[in-house]
Amino acid sequence: MGKAMTINAEESKAYENIIGGRLSRRAALMALASTAALAVAPSLWPKSAQAAASSLNFAELTRIYDQTHHVANGYDANVLVRWGDPIAKDVAFDPAAQSADSQSKQFGYNCDFIGYMPLPVGSSNSEHGLLCVNNEYPDPHIMWPGLTEDDAATKATEDQIRTMQAAWGHTIVEIKKEGGTWAYVQDSEYNRRINGFTEISISGPAAGHALLKTSADPSGTKAIGTGYNCAGGTTPWGTVLTCEEGLSDIFGGDAAKAANPKLLERYGYDGSDAYGFARVEQRLHLDQEPNEPNRFDWVVEIDPYQPDAAPVKRTALGRFSHEGATTIVNKDGRVAVYLGDDDYYEYIYRFVTKGKFNPDDRAANKHLLDEGELSVAKLDPNGELHWLPLVHGQKGLTAENGFADQGEVVIKARLAADLLGATPMDRPEDVEANPLTGRVYAVMTKNAKRKPDQIDPANPRAENKTGHILELSPPGEGKDADHAAATYKWDVFLLAGDPSKPEQGAKFGEGVTANGWLVTPDNIAFDPQGRLWIATDGANDFDIADGLYATETDGAGRAVTRFFFACPTGAEMCGPCFTPDGKTLFVSVQHPAENSESLDEPTTRWPDFADNLPPRPSVVAITHKDGLEIGA
Ligand code: FEO
Ligand code: CA
Ligand code: CA
Repeated sequence: MGKAMTINAEESKAYENIIGGRLSRRAALMALASTAALAVAPSLWPKSAQAAASSLNFAELTRIYDQTHHVANGYDANVLVRWGDPIAKDVAFDPAAQSADSQSKQFGYNCDFIGYMPLPVGSSNSEHGLLCVNNEYPDPHIMWPGLTEDDAATKATEDQIRTMQAAWGHTIVEIKKEGGTWAYVQDSEYNRRINGFTEISISGPAAGHALLKTSADPSGTKAIGTGYNCAGGTTPWGTVLTCEEGLSDIFGGDAAKAANPKLLERYGYDGSDAYGFARVEQRLHLDQEPNEPNRFDWVVEIDPYQPDAAPVKRTALGRFSHEGATTIVNKDGRVAVYLGDDDYYEYIYRFVTKGKFNPDDRAANKHLLDEGELSVAKLDPNGELHWLPLVHGQKGLTAENGFADQGEVVIKARLAADLLGATPMDRPEDVEANPLTGRVYAVMTKNAKRKPDQIDPANPRAENKTGHILELSPPGEGKDADHAAATYKWDVFLLAGDPSKPEQGAKFGEGVTANGWLVTPDNIAFDPQGRLWIATDGANDFDIADGLYATETDGAGRAVTRFFFACPTGAEMCGPCFTPDGKTLFVSVQHPAENSESLDEPTTRWPDFADNLPPRPSVVAITHKDGLEIGA
């Protein structure tokens, strides 16, 4: 539960004596609890600490929700690259004449995760690099006139369907900062689209598995396409991880007549064919190509520095609705990957590589993500988190229970996690370690379906419409944190919502303002000073803009979120990403005007505001007007 307590001045002194720096909050509380009565109140932190200045030196944005974007005073927020912008020679953006071919040479739709990869490889150049951006899904009703959300699946033409398949996936584009302004390079040899047509290798324990073999690929090692690329991550060896967040609704056919209806049901495959893709692709019929679904819902590794290298689906990281995949090098050199399965009552996962990261030989890390241990989180009410290994042959993960080998364990990771008794969460989105403290933040976006008899300390609200963030603490601090340990501590970092509405049960640090509270947290990023930046997805349901908020994770500013950037109407905020120097913050403005019935009357035509151009999802580059670090 939110450990919300106050401490008086005397106790504050005692507290400071006890911590002598930073002891874990839980340990400090336990020490205090033996000598002092603790009362429930908005903040744990001592008054003396609360009086200290926050390191976040920007004037909060005032609540605003309109047709364009806004950033805190003192910053510039310039559109860097938009859906449809050409990333090759001899191509233009004509929204009325889009094709799979033109879209394959343009920036994709609905930008989401952003990875900034410096040039040259291995450097920390903050003014020249590769922008690696997920393109999550198409929005046909605001891409073309004459379609609505309800009829696009049946009315979209074959050309439009092929264009949509080309529009999602991932875009890599070279960018440069010149004269203080970022621009992309249209004809860079690094520019690349990975989309619904790209051939992708399959590696790890499920590669070549019987359950991955199809009539087009009897080897079970080459998938065609990626999609619903939501959040992601980057690796210490300079690759990008793009996450397939569940392709269940692009399949058609009769799920009940498929070979494995129970597996399909557990992964939400119901034959709904949301965009009409199954009308043009036989392989997307559940009752005709039973293993095709098993070739999606993976984490895909891309080497942006090698434009010819095929992306690879890394099956060791498990199969589920992958939100993100964030990495940290553990103190012993192994690499931990934190993973969220973004669906109702799904789980938090962690993967730890078997081998160690080699900082001196990039190629030596090429297969690091193929071997290691995948585990799933069980969050006990006593504040302990147990990582339960998903290992074939252990704890009932055996042939008699439907897991013939490790390949089958990862293909059916959700079922394996069910069997082990993992904790069902309120839609896990980003999970990311603070690089300075080593503590890990896990974002639960919301779960309005949770019933009163289903609450638990880690998901403490029924009908959770506003989401929350948990803090997971491995043993050890900072560089000594053990991201391979079997047991962590966990705590509630914040409960999102409007603090002026007690029925929402919000809980922030003391001092959060009427502008600074947030709802429906989704993607997160840490700046070089270890401060947490939180993007939201779903605030429009509360008549406020989605946007970006910043908070410290310790001290007076802990969980005191501050409003920094507002999206235009209909858009969610995704992909916050800092350059290594902390002086540029890239953000994705995804699906502006999605709250429109159709393109006849879009709620905004951001960012161009031209009558002949549709609204365009775009990446925005934010810089300080005086060249300081973001947040300063
Ligand atoms: Fe694609 Fe979980 O947001
Ligand atoms: Ca997301
Ligand atoms: Ca989301």
